[in-house]
Amino acid sequence: MKVLTYPNPKLLKKALKVAVIDRSVNKLVRQMFDLMYKEGGVGLAAPQAGYSLRLAVINLTKKPPDELVLINPLIAEQSGSVIQEEGCLSVPGITAPVGRSARLVCRALDLNGNEINLTAEDLLARAIQHEIDHLDGVLFINRLEPEERQKIKKKLQELEHANNQRLK
Ligand code: NI
Repeated sequence: MKVLTYPNPKLLKKALKVAVIDRSVNKLVRQMFDLMYKEGGVGLAAPQAGYSLRLAVINLTKKPPDELVLINPLIAEQSGSVIQEEGCLSVPGITAPVGRSARLVCRALDLNGNEINLTAEDLLARAIQHEIDHLDGVLFINRLEPEERQKIKKKLQELEHANNQRLK
């Protein structure tokens, strides 16, 4: 399993709901955490691993007890706004300031199929919004102010070029 990178079209598709939380979902979650740790990230969404499923893993401390699994997540409430530098394993080598809600309540299912209502702020709120965006086929580079987008334009073109070469 590898992290797909921009401009892979699989990253731009709306993912499908997880219908049943079975052994294959459990296995996928484990593989996603392992891949995320290997790549040094704090969040990973299933489409980044090539799976069109509304499923994301987050671990801000990168230590196993803090593993958070979000299945079919949605944002039930949100408030405030913060602009902060953001990056993504699927857009390597690029960071840029992104505006996000400061606080939110996320509703999702865990691996046991239980509903979780998670109140989050700061980095966790940001990570949840970033991962849910992935499930909707949205990358952080799609949320930049025009002048910020302009600043990273060249690096994005380099990524496009590198990935197109790989596909040939
Ligand atoms: Ni990302």
